[in-house]
Amino acid sequence: MSTLLQNPCVHGFFTYTPCKSDPIGLLLGQIIFEDAEIYTLATQNEYRRQGVASHLLEKFIVECLARSVKRILLEVHEANMPALRFYERVGFVAYGRREKYYASFLTDYSDAILFEMAFGSKKQNLKKRLALFN
Ligand SMILES: CC(C)(COP(=O)(O)OP(=O)(O)OC[C@H]1O[C@@H](n2cnc3c(N)ncnc32)[C@H](O)[C@@H]1OP(=O)(O)O)[C@@H](O)C(=O)NCCC(=O)NCCS
Repeated sequence: MSTLLQNPCVHGFFTYTPCKSDPIGLLLGQIIFEDAEIYTLATQNEYRRQGVASHLLEKFIVECLARSVKRILLEVHEANMPALRFYERVGFVAYGRREKYYASFLTDYSDAILFEMAFGSKKQNLKKRLALFN
């Protein structure tokens, strides 16, 4: 991961608790000119549904808007209900499906659901997007 984070296009955000040295949540994403992509976002099991991922995403959105990003893209496994619900809840819109994107074993394939969060006017959108996290 440290090699990945040396790439200036890659951004990593971490959440810690005072008594744990390992992060309880992490977001890894990439920003290239007007496009951003979330590679991964995860919260440790016992800390889920406490706003950890929302907080990390909020930080990434602030970074994206500071860099004039126009849209954030990501994909989610079609059966990953917590992630599908999460991204819908925080304002991403599903715009497509990539068939047989994930492979488990050699014969078992699943689709990816493609999500997008698009930004228009920077100031207006920052206020609107951040309101979702309150
Ligand atoms: C998806 C994931 C990152 C959410 O993390 P989290 O820290 O629990 O998310 P938050 O607490 O910020 O959740 C915000 C909202 O998202 C929705 N949500 C999150 N998890 C949900 C679940 N299991 N079921 C339904 N809605 C859910 C809820 O609306 C939630 O608000 P609420 O708790 O007030 O109802 C977490 O479940 C996870 O780490 N999953 C495994 C890794 C993964 O699949 N990552 C996504 C692919 S990159």
